[in-house]
Amino acid sequence: MNQRPRRNRKSNSIRRLISETRVTNDDLIYPLFLTEGTNIKEEISSLPGNYRWSTDRMLKEIEECIKLGLHSFMVFPKISDQHKDKKGTYSYDDNNYYLKAAKQIKKEFPDITLISDVALDPYNVDGHDGIVENGRILNDETLEILGKMSIAQAEAGFDILGPSDMMDGRIGFIREELDDHGYEDISIMSYTAKYASAFYGPFRDALDSAPVLDPSIPNDKKTYQMDPANKREAIIEADLDVDEGADFLMVKPALNYLDVIHLIKENYDRPLAAYHVSGECAMLIAACQRGWLDYNIAMPETLLSIKRAGADVIISYFAKDFMGQAR
Ligand code: PBG
Repeated sequence: MNQRPRRNRKSNSIRRLISETRVTNDDLIYPLFLTEGTNIKEEISSLPGNYRWSTDRMLKEIEECIKLGLHSFMVFPKISDQHKDKKGTYSYDDNNYYLKAAKQIKKEFPDITLISDVALDPYNVDGHDGIVENGRILNDETLEILGKMSIAQAEAGFDILGPSDMMDGRIGFIREELDDHGYEDISIMSYTAKYASAFYGPFRDALDSAPVLDPSIPNDKKTYQMDPANKREAIIEADLDVDEGADFLMVKPALNYLDVIHLIKENYDRPLAAYHVSGECAMLIAACQRGWLDYNIAMPETLLSIKRAGADVIISYFAKDFMGQAR
């Protein structure tokens, strides 16, 4: 044998020399859940190790994460029922605590990248990402709300807006609204290929944002999120996002969609984010809690796989633990 691939695996040092993919702090975005009030840190039962933070506690958490090397954060708000209505008007209300929190976060940590969530579901009584009327999710009427929400978020100081709603035409609509209001420097990270996935469960628990149980309202998001069976449709969405002015593209979820990540990476020049979603993280946490897998090995392997598939940026609930591990 003149070919012995094992020679390049014989020591840790050589393995490190030839290692093709590395995940670093610079690749990671840490999603955090915000809740109204003070001094609150509530664990999300279906996503152990993740919490709903009140603004004051979130500031401390972000400070801790910065010390570990993280510098990009995505914040999602839990909205109390009294602020919910059919059109999600609280999303751009002057008194919106999420917008106030963003201002505080950016004031205290001006150098971080703060990413928002643009969608109606946290604010909407129906639990959908758009306005629901007669059992249908209205597209163009929803754009008007998303536009207002985007301006309010830009004004609050978010660096990047993250439209996660999957309405048609929203990237172009939001881009135009931002530019018209003098926010041409605010970026858009589009949830480009977001699938109607079963793996968002813990997230919806965290925000109490699941579609409500009502026979007159669809109890899934299949009329706007994509069919998990479809790959070419991701190309249609990515073409539109690039045309409409997205600064980042995204594939979501990540692990069951590594082929889609690869496809978008090969065909587009925009930076590509992959959202390693709540249910994907919860599965691994559960298996590790039972002693069936070793978290310290399985967790970094998981993030590495997403990077290897082609993601430039990984949004993961494991970001903090990853940085906390000695490596
Ligand atoms: C809603 C939104 C969802 C997630 C991010 N934004 C849930 C959904 O579409 O129902 C899920 C993220 C996760 O599961 O971690 N706009």
